[in-house]
Amino acid sequence: MNALVTGVAGFIGSHLAEALIGDGHKVIGVDCFTDYYERSRKEANLSSLMGHSSFKFTEIDLMETDLATLVAGVTHVFHLAAQPGVRHSWKRGFRAYTARNLDATQGLLEACAEQPVERFIYASSSSVYGDHAALPMREDASPLPVSPYGVTKLAAELLCRLYHETSGVPVVVLRYFTVYGPRQRPDMAFHRFLLAAIRGKPIYVYGDGRQTRDFTFVSDTVTATVAAGTHGTVGRIYNVGGGSQVSVSDALEIVAACAGRPLDIQRKPCQRGDMRDTYADTSLAQRDLGFTPTISLTEGLRAEHEWLSQLSTVNP
Ligand code: UGA
Repeated sequence: MNALVTGVAGFIGSHLAEALIGDGHKVIGVDCFTDYYERSRKEANLSSLMGHSSFKFTEIDLMETDLATLVAGVTHVFHLAAQPGVRHSWKRGFRAYTARNLDATQGLLEACAEQPVERFIYASSSSVYGDHAALPMREDASPLPVSPYGVTKLAAELLCRLYHETSGVPVVVLRYFTVYGPRQRPDMAFHRFLLAAIRGKPIYVYGDGRQTRDFTFVSDTVTATVAAGTHGTVGRIYNVGGGSQVSVSDALEIVAACAGRPLDIQRKPCQRGDMRDTYADTSLAQRDLGFTPTISLTEGLRAEHEWLSQLSTVNP
């Protein structure tokens, strides 16, 4: 592959680029270092990639770039660049979501309509489902997002489908379910919980803690993404889940075991935009991509705990 990874300095993008290079592929990585969280964290994500002969990094904003030139010679596009986070997507913040999740995606699809690639992988999200889909969620359930973020991810999926049908862009859509692990974004639950546990600070749980997630370890997410690039069925949508449905309260018991101390848990109101439950039916990904999640929540949380413990030692 001569792969383009957008959002390469992010949590999943940086792991994906490492895996692709490990498999012997060439990677062009792009990122514009949005201010959603600190640039220094994203630079650290890139540290093992920089200087690698198969990796070329360019700092660019997809909306201010000649995308035809960017995709020239590229065989596989992994489009992970996005404005993330369900809870920040309300009010005026929404503008960043429409620009980065819709305008940028449309521009890239347009470029790939002109210069054929072998696969265009779009990183979508479980947040497209909302609260009406039956559990476990199947890709053919009617999506009804409950956050503005989810609306933009769903609209971007529809753009992918449109460019596939009208222009033959070989899209494969992946719906990631709450990905976690080393380098996880600092606004996400496990990063906040584990860091608070390490530092002996309060942990804030939204609502009653009985909301559930299908938490997916980042290496499993990356395995599914690479497989989608090589043999995902074009035009199809795949759930990528971790294989279990766990409540926030139950996950906190594992966090306490990792930290080896009792947690100071405090309650906050339910957050607008949060889904109540997620749980992926991954039989389609298993059938077409050979995907089976391999990392248990306990193993995965230990790995994230170790990463954050090291970071806290360096930067207390
Ligand atoms: C995550 C990502 O942030 C989205 O970008 C992604 O698209 C989405 O997963 C998805 O898979 O669709 P979320 O499930 O909200 O969204 O992930 P977390 O931030 O890890 O939250 C998990 C649960 O913990 C939520 O119920 C949330 O309300 C709760 N939480 C989060 C707390 O109780 N306290 C916190 O401090 C943070």
